[in-house]
Amino acid sequence: MKKKFYITTPVYYVNDKPHIGHAYTTVAADVLARAHKLQGEEIFLLTGTDEHGLKIQKKAEEAGVDPQKFVDGISAGFKDLWDKLGIEYDNFIRTTNSAHKNAVQKVLQTLFDQGAIYKGEYEGLYCVGCEQFRNENELVNGRCPDHDTVLENVREECYLLKMGDLQAELIQKIESDDFQIRPERYKREILSFLKNEKLKDVSISRKNVKWGIPLPFDPEHTTYVWFDAFLSYLTGIGWDGSIQGSTFPLSADASNSSRSNLSKFWPADIQLIGKDILRVHATIWPIMLLHLGIEMPKLLYAHGHLLSGGRKMSKTIGNVIGIEEMLEKFGVDGTRYLLMSAGTFGEDVDVTMDRMIEKYNADLANGIGNLVSRVVKLSSIPNSQIKMTNKIPNPNEKLLSLIDKLELNTALNYIWQIVRKDDKFVEINKPWELTKNDKSKFQEVMQKLVSDLSLISELLVPFMPDTSEKIKTALEEKKVDSLFPRIK
Ligand code: MSP
Repeated sequence: MKKKFYITTPVYYVNDKPHIGHAYTTVAADVLARAHKLQGEEIFLLTGTDEHGLKIQKKAEEAGVDPQKFVDGISAGFKDLWDKLGIEYDNFIRTTNSAHKNAVQKVLQTLFDQGAIYKGEYEGLYCVGCEQFRNENELVNGRCPDHDTVLENVREECYLLKMGDLQAELIQKIESDDFQIRPERYKREILSFLKNEKLKDVSISRKNVKWGIPLPFDPEHTTYVWFDAFLSYLTGIGWDGSIQGSTFPLSADASNSSRSNLSKFWPADIQLIGKDILRVHATIWPIMLLHLGIEMPKLLYAHGHLLSGGRKMSKTIGNVIGIEEMLEKFGVDGTRYLLMSAGTFGEDVDVTMDRMIEKYNADLANGIGNLVSRVVKLSSIPNSQIKMTNKIPNPNEKLLSLIDKLELNTALNYIWQIVRKDDKFVEINKPWELTKNDKSKFQEVMQKLVSDLSLISELLVPFMPDTSEKIKTALEEKKVDSLFPRIK
């Protein structure tokens, strides 16, 4: 039986258009999925949009549009962008889809019936940007550190999810790596938090937010947006929210195909998130799963943020790099390359448009683009008997092991070392002279270059699938258009 590989991105809020940060996570997930596909695994890549909550309700009100219409438009924009970026997702889940909403209501009822959810009151400081209550000690000058906004003091009747009872079990799952949190420092950070603070029960409903899924046992309340959103990781592979018995995958009654999909793919192999949403993913989400008797995801990986000019990208500061602008300038594979080679994936990385243009010209236009065009032109000199097709074993162990460790920029570096070495090799050997005075050396030099290009084209498959195809075709047809035109 084929090994399975289930990878998720966060479901993105649709209060605004997608940006480069969203693209960063999603392209990385696509690279991982493609790398696993090369190993013959059965892949499920889930992405989608998180469409309820106060933040979105407010945005729709401001725009004077019905919230469903509002979210339909923005969600379509995300989908469209993923298509443009070559993201091969298997499902694009929307939390306003009715199957998802029904499943959420079923889960709420189950947890309410088993006493994990109870009625109470909550008072706290709510950040609409985070859609989270924040602790006083997390604030900077009384403001949300992530959104720089003053928080709303909320005191209301609500339903709460019990957290503390399962804290010890969660600690054990994290410590034993049943539920891996990476990079390693985040595992330590979360464990130290969980060992030092008793988790407060979490409010899972809002009385004054209209735009949400009504609680089945009290329709005056809507479901807290994070509770709703987390479940998309399960509804996205077809779960309908019913629990039979206490273990997951659900019963063998696999007559319904969505069920079998679920037992096939859960637990997720990798849940990719940005560091901003680590805490909720490492507390509320696994505790929900523990209450439901569902297995933990295998790995929660938090990557760093893209910064611009040393600061968080923000429209107010005016340092936002547009993803559409990147696509226009660098093309699909150029954009994928620049995002994935920007820096160490687990750390924050600074990007500026100027530096990206420089890197594009150096690594793509003058780098691989130039190498391909030189090699193809030289090998198409009449009577040069170069063997153009070269079967290279793929997958390449070294590359895959780097991708598996989420060392994505190192993996690209590994490919570009070959590109740079070949560039030097061309300069040293001057094949355009050899073709006149040493035919057999010419043959030898070109054969090596062609083999290397075949290898490069295979290595590029997860990162730059179109470029990989173009190189293969160029070698076969002995002709090539400029792969990456220089940017002035
Ligand atoms: N809707 C929630 C997630 C629910 S998942 C059950 C949410 N959405 S979001 O639209 O705000 O997207 C957050 C995610 O977008 C981050 O975790 C990260 O994956 C990505 N990024 C947003 N800005 C980013 C950067 N500046 N840099 C890198 N990625 C960031 O939170």
